[in-house]
Amino acid sequence: MNAPGPAFPALQPDEVFDWLDAEAARRSEAGLVRRLRARGPSTDELDLAGNDYLGLARDKRVAGAAAAASLRWGAGSTGSRLVTGSTELHAELEHELARFCGTQAALVFSSGFTANLGAVTALSGAESAIVTDKYIHASLIEGCRLSRADIAAVGHADPAAIAHALATRRKQRALVVTDSVFSVDGDVAPLRELSEACRTHGAALLVDDAHGFGVLGDGGRGAVHDAGLAGEPDVVTTITLSKALGAQGGAVLGPRRVIRHLVDTARSFVFDTALAPGSAAAALAALGVLREEPGLAERVLTVAGSLAHGLREAGLQVSGSGGAVVSVRAPGPGEAQAWAGACAEHGIRVGCFRPPSVPDGVSRLRLTARADLAESDVDRAVKVVAELAPPGARG
Ligand SMILES: Cc1ncc(COP(=O)(O)O)c(C=O)c1O
Repeated sequence: MNAPGPAFPALQPDEVFDWLDAEAARRSEAGLVRRLRARGPSTDELDLAGNDYLGLARDKRVAGAAAAASLRWGAGSTGSRLVTGSTELHAELEHELARFCGTQAALVFSSGFTANLGAVTALSGAESAIVTDKYIHASLIEGCRLSRADIAAVGHADPAAIAHALATRRKQRALVVTDSVFSVDGDVAPLRELSEACRTHGAALLVDDAHGFGVLGDGGRGAVHDAGLAGEPDVVTTITLSKALGAQGGAVLGPRRVIRHLVDTARSFVFDTALAPGSAAAALAALGVLREEPGLAERVLTVAGSLAHGLREAGLQVSGSGGAVVSVRAPGPGEAQAWAGACAEHGIRVGCFRPPSVPDGVSRLRLTARADLAESDVDRAVKVVAELAPPGARG
């Protein structure tokens, strides 16, 4: 028999959650309180906080396709595709995504988050080792935690550290996990070198191309395609439909046998209501726009380049190279929050990243480029962000 545990005082029902107040006070002291802000359907603000990189979320072709599909198929999918059936919309979207990105097959999920959870857990397990870049997205981290694999999180963008962790692992089966474009700093992972490390050590490579798809590579085919890795038998890509495509949802792209395995075993696919018909149709329409207008992807990069250049010229500490994400260092979390708030009061909405979204000591403003921004928008944004910079932001 187990020894009796320590005796805890009985609590009244209204005391059970008292510990939440203590946690809230701690967050407040550390400047880490988050608030939901009301948003109307339209605004005069210049939005440099969202991820609508191609400006397609409100495009009539995209939003119209969502509306038409909702009327035809229903507002929701009503269940898992394994239970209530798989619509032609889902099948067509998967076919088109795979064709566009150059992979054998694709599987769509209800979000990028669930795509990452599903891919990481289904492609690993207690008999596996996972080696990750330490700055991977939270959804990948959650996938690692759920996987029961041995996890090694190594230095950022460091293929030698990845190779070392692979060489010293204790499990034969191995998966390397990275973002393509890191969501906070906007830097691009050394995908070819990572692939080489994987091949030397018999590991698979899983790349979250959430911020590369629609922006990088030939016509926006993404960072994995750009690195020449899209059709490779040992490479799996995850994307979100919620950023460049302006819709909602996620997908895993890769070899056919990987996709078949996910249909059978990815719990965030099997036990999750399927991507809504409207979202599938919107993503399909947006993909059509991207195919017809490949210059959209190039335009985002031009806008991002102008933003980064202007902010650097203004003496700010800017990171991000190659993608749509431009990140500006703030002296601390409180300053970052106040800076972002002041920018909003001047009509410029920027992202504010503080712990736990980033490690302590590296709070940031994040500006995201969009293909539909004019040079005058960029100039205005740079002027406001630079003029409102707190002491210490210039390093
Ligand atoms: C790198 C990265 N991966 C995955 C996701 C999750 O995608 P979704 O918002 O579609 O769930 C995000 C979104 O914030 C992201 O930035």
